[in-house]
Amino acid sequence: MEGVQLYSRLLRPVLFRLGSGDPEVAHHRTIDALRLFGAAPGASTLRGLVAVDAPRTVFGLRFPNPVGLAAGMDKNGVALPGWAALGFGHVEVGTVTWHPQPGNPKPRLYRLPASGALINRMGFNNDGARALAARLRTAARLPMPLGISIGKSKITPVADAVADYRSSLAELYPYGDYFAVNVSSPNTPGLRGLQDRGLLDELLGELTREAARLAYGGTPKPVLVKIAPDLDDAAIGEVIEVCAARSVAGIIATNTTLARDGLAPEDVATGAQAGGLSGRPLTRRALDVVAFVHRESAGRLPIIGVGGIAAPEDALRMLDAGASLVQVYTGFIYGGPGLVRGISRAARATGAAPGDR
Ligand SMILES: Cc1cc2nc3c(=O)[nH]c(=O)nc-3n(C[C@H](O)[C@H](O)[C@H](O)COP(=O)(O)O)c2cc1C
Repeated sequence: MEGVQLYSRLLRPVLFRLGSGDPEVAHHRTIDALRLFGAAPGASTLRGLVAVDAPRTVFGLRFPNPVGLAAGMDKNGVALPGWAALGFGHVEVGTVTWHPQPGNPKPRLYRLPASGALINRMGFNNDGARALAARLRTAARLPMPLGISIGKSKITPVADAVADYRSSLAELYPYGDYFAVNVSSPNTPGLRGLQDRGLLDELLGELTREAARLAYGGTPKPVLVKIAPDLDDAAIGEVIEVCAARSVAGIIATNTTLARDGLAPEDVATGAQAGGLSGRPLTRRALDVVAFVHRESAGRLPIIGVGGIAAPEDALRMLDAGASLVQVYTGFIYGGPGLVRGISRAARATGAAPGDR
């Protein structure tokens, strides 16, 4: 049986039945299992067996293959060797906030299986930047780059957002290879407003200055911004201009959507839940945003493409549209670890890395 089938026929049914009412239980069990598995002696040997080499250099970092784990899966960075063992080419931990916070009341995660989708309104449940820094301080070196996604604490007013993000960046700076500024989660009131030109310019200006200060005259670590798929072309154009003006290293496109297009009839009722929709209904929009950013930036801004990648072909389309790297979340939940290998193989088979920059 191929890896994807092994997962979808055997493991996924068991996982999906865990805590039958609440998919978040399956999520925590998976992370726990990966944490234990990653700490086991054979884990790094497994990476040697399953990881596919399709290397590329993007914003100055060398990635062993183009497939990353998207933010939100391992918010607290507890299972890093586990993700490495599964063959990922990078992992983005977080989103973390300066203040530890519990997130929204449960239930806050819903499966829409007929649509290959999820709806979540987690609300940045995380241990906080200081706890993540303490964990990473003693973590073993990873065989692939580590991204750290930072967001605004719920208790911090939008007017004080810049200082809140800056504190997280400063605390975590020694431990990340790149930093993702999350201004696109739909589940923190006011957060998406930080994508507006003036606020974004102030926020990214401050964070890139802080990264330069923390680099002590060396090359600052890359700071990227993650955008929502619900921005229109004009707004995305403004984000690109701000990125160019503020030496932002790249754009991660996209986060979850507030739209509810493309749901299977069986999922329309669940689709009424508040939160961000991810997975297959997002595939087309995320691809269009990636293509738009690539075109508008004349190919000068590296892009990490994310949203609705459920099969290797989806990833290849993202790479063709101008992404240098891709990330998966929902497709990984439904497709399992075989997806990571499948995409890396497909990317390798297409030859040179077109997104290298
Ligand atoms: C349960 C869940 C939690 C998420 N949490 C975060 C997060 O903390 N930070 C973030 O930038 N994106 C978060 N995301 C968005 C994903 O990183 C990704 O951008 C989005 O789900 C689209 O990709 P996908 O269709 O492959 O899932 C989350 C997604 C899900 C489903």
